[in-house]
Amino acid sequence: MKERILVTGGTGYIGSHTVVELQLAGYEVIIIDNLSNSTIDSLAGIEKITGIKPSFENLDCVDYVGLDYMFSKYEGIKAVIHFAASKAVGESVQKPILYYRNNVNGLMNILDLMPIHGVQNILFSSSCTVYGEPDMLPVNETAPTKPATSPYGNTKQICEEIIRDVIHSGAFMNSIILRYFNPIGAHPSAQIGELPIGVPSNLVPFITQTAIGIHNKLNVFGNDYNTPDGTCIRDYINVVDLAKAHVVAVKRMLDCVQDEPLEFFNIGTGRGVSVFELIHAFEMSNHVKVPYTVVERREGDIEKVWADPQKANTILGWKAEISVEDTLKSAWNWEKRLHETRKV
Ligand code: WQD
Repeated sequence: MKERILVTGGTGYIGSHTVVELQLAGYEVIIIDNLSNSTIDSLAGIEKITGIKPSFENLDCVDYVGLDYMFSKYEGIKAVIHFAASKAVGESVQKPILYYRNNVNGLMNILDLMPIHGVQNILFSSSCTVYGEPDMLPVNETAPTKPATSPYGNTKQICEEIIRDVIHSGAFMNSIILRYFNPIGAHPSAQIGELPIGVPSNLVPFITQTAIGIHNKLNVFGNDYNTPDGTCIRDYINVVDLAKAHVVAVKRMLDCVQDEPLEFFNIGTGRGVSVFELIHAFEMSNHVKVPYTVVERREGDIEKVWADPQKANTILGWKAEISVEDTLKSAWNWEKRLHETRKV
């Protein structure tokens, strides 16, 4: 009997790649998603890769009654991976209530219903945003969290604290929190990938859309930072590598081998890459030009942040393996496939 994993937000970018790796690892996956920032087509993409179509419920995590029914329908869930959340930093500044309701209420409903339905384990999708501008680099899990610079980042911090407090209350619960750095790229099959709705705010989808001609040029948000080439530095991690980190984290919880009922892991490559370096790597890897112009800094941008992934490397036995170059090739292949489907 396959162990059942509930993946909220499982038709989304990181969710869909994680569903693929969970299925390949032998788990049965149930997806709930409200399709507010993804499409049902992800299910077909997942099935094309693994041959297994996951169970799917069109459900919003803020719908307590609907969630309760879902937990009753799918008995024996061994763990929840909670991706479902709004994640656009800029939008969160414009619509804070939407972000607090969706991201915080959604998690609280899950946490409330888990013990009622005998579900003990939750893996939470967090972000390096909680560290703000770190005092030391590379940043490890002991680094202090900093006041959030956006409602989006604040919801991640609040959700981490809610999980901490629920576990501290003595609830029948274990949790692992993964703090992602910058996920990029797509599955090598080009069957699933990042599907930004509207104009992308993240760098790599804007690069690929510029390269394919959707935009005339890329705006580089500032080259006057205190970095070698003046542009911001990030830890760009391949989305498939990131998805595999979720599989080993779930196994750690199910095997009951956690050192603590709540553990944190930074999931990054440990390598900082600047905006200019990424543009250049994309052009060299894909033999395509990316016209760009340098404009004003973007408010709220962190100057430089990259991970110290040693804890994940040693305790989870997980390490990022796919190069930035190969990741950028996968991003380009995905964009070209999207372009073909747009033509249809
Ligand atoms: C990266 C760099 C920009 C777009 C955010 C969230 C984080 C995570 C990933 C969800 C920055 C520069 C970008 C553009 C540019 N989200 N840039 N021109 O802001 O590091 O992280 O997305 O989990 O939580 O905070 O990612 O890709 O937006 O920006 O110059 O058109 O690229 O200034 O230096 P960010 P990003």
